[in-house]
Amino acid sequence: MSSRLIVALDFPDTEQALSFVQLLSPADCKLKVGFELFVAGGPGFVRSLVDLGFDVFLDLKFHDIPNTVAGACRAAAKLGVWMINVHAAGGDKMMRFAREALSDLENPPHLIAVTVLTSMDAEQLDKIGVRAGSPDDQVKHLARLTHESGLDGVVCSAQEAQMLRETLGADFLLVTPGIRPEGSQQGDQSRVMTPEAAKAVGVDYVVVGRPITQSDDPLAVIAQINRAL
Ligand code: C5P
Repeated sequence: MSSRLIVALDFPDTEQALSFVQLLSPADCKLKVGFELFVAGGPGFVRSLVDLGFDVFLDLKFHDIPNTVAGACRAAAKLGVWMINVHAAGGDKMMRFAREALSDLENPPHLIAVTVLTSMDAEQLDKIGVRAGSPDDQVKHLARLTHESGLDGVVCSAQEAQMLRETLGADFLLVTPGIRPEGSQQGDQSRVMTPEAAKAVGVDYVVVGRPITQSDDPLAVIAQINRAL
């Protein structure tokens, strides 16, 4: 079975990213490319990872008017990536346009949404005018909207996973960062969970960065996480 581990390639340039990727095989893990590396390396770099045989999650969190997001999703899909994402806060019309933009592709990527960034607490949400209930309520609300808009899943914290699994059913993908294997550094993540615990609460894919990329033995950490999942 293909791995449920997505390694976050949070490197400042493509040279460092590629020398790390050379250690890996597509059977070990999938790869996530975010803003930093995409801006540094561009679509050609993403395509080179796809050409190496990796499933790539292009984490660009599109958020714009529906037509623009639809075009961006289509352009991303043409790179051959495995997963892309948008901000649920862009609204159901935007998400439906994004879904529709992928509908005639032979092998479309999974399309998921970000609900509430984990950097947003109640005070931050209040400042942008989101005042109905707690951050958890807002996560649930936007995850429901994502589901109703026909998307495949959401990025969520492991703490939210069980509630979302119960609310939105078995087929809705839950993709979860903030995962730390037993004994690894927490870094700047505030609420972390082990891979074993994430699996137990129903997470489909875990996103892990520094515990792997900054390890002296990345393959051993990857093997440990794959065993747990
Ligand atoms: O190094 P670490 O395991 O903390 O990396 C987690 C990855 O997941 C980073 O690329 C980070 O940007 C991303 N992420 C996150 N929390 C979110 C959404 C994405 O940590 N809510």
